[in-house]
Amino acid sequence: MKYLMKTVLIFLLLIAGILAFQVVVPEQSITMAVADTTYTNPNGSSELALLMREMQQYSNTAKADVKAGKTPAPYPKEFDKIHTAKISESMTKSEYYKSFADLYIMSVKNYTSSAPAERIETYNNMVNSCLACHSQHCPGPVPVIKKMMIVEPVK
Ligand code: HEC
Repeated sequence: MKYLMKTVLIFLLLIAGILAFQVVVPEQSITMAVADTTYTNPNGSSELALLMREMQQYSNTAKADVKAGKTPAPYPKEFDKIHTAKISESMTKSEYYKSFADLYIMSVKNYTSSAPAERIETYNNMVNSCLACHSQHCPGPVPVIKKMMIVEPVK
């Protein structure tokens, strides 16, 4: 069972990697304004949607912190609610939702405990885990999330 979980996570990371690859457009987002995250929700404000906004806020702060060389803010305990928060009536969670949610939580924790030299990578992994889940659920915010990636300058 543990092995299966590991395989699923590796598979998800692969998908995330493929998504990240598509996102790497040189010079695009390193200068992207942190506040560039407007997305209007067509579905009202479910508990999960509100949590998503907090997650987005956390990532935007993280992006600014990474660039400024600041220590990551601690893992926000309320993110655990990603498993139980109620989704909008018009949407459903796929059978992979739980794995995507676990992957996301793990990626945030990896980011918070990363050494300075690993911060861009762990930050981008975190954003990729948003994208992995959104490729299956709720594609609306995908363009906004893609812009959250930190693209390192090409040398
Ligand atoms: C485990 C799956 C999953 C992960 C991981 C995930 N999302 Fe979501 N996200 C959803 C679902 C499902 C919805 C739709 C929620 C609803 O309408 O109830 C959503 C909605 C949103 C919305 C719209 C919120 C609104 O106002 O309606 C934004 C923005 C968003 N996510 C951004 C993010 C960001 C940024 C991340 C990573 C930091 C992320 N999501 C990670 C599944 C996920």
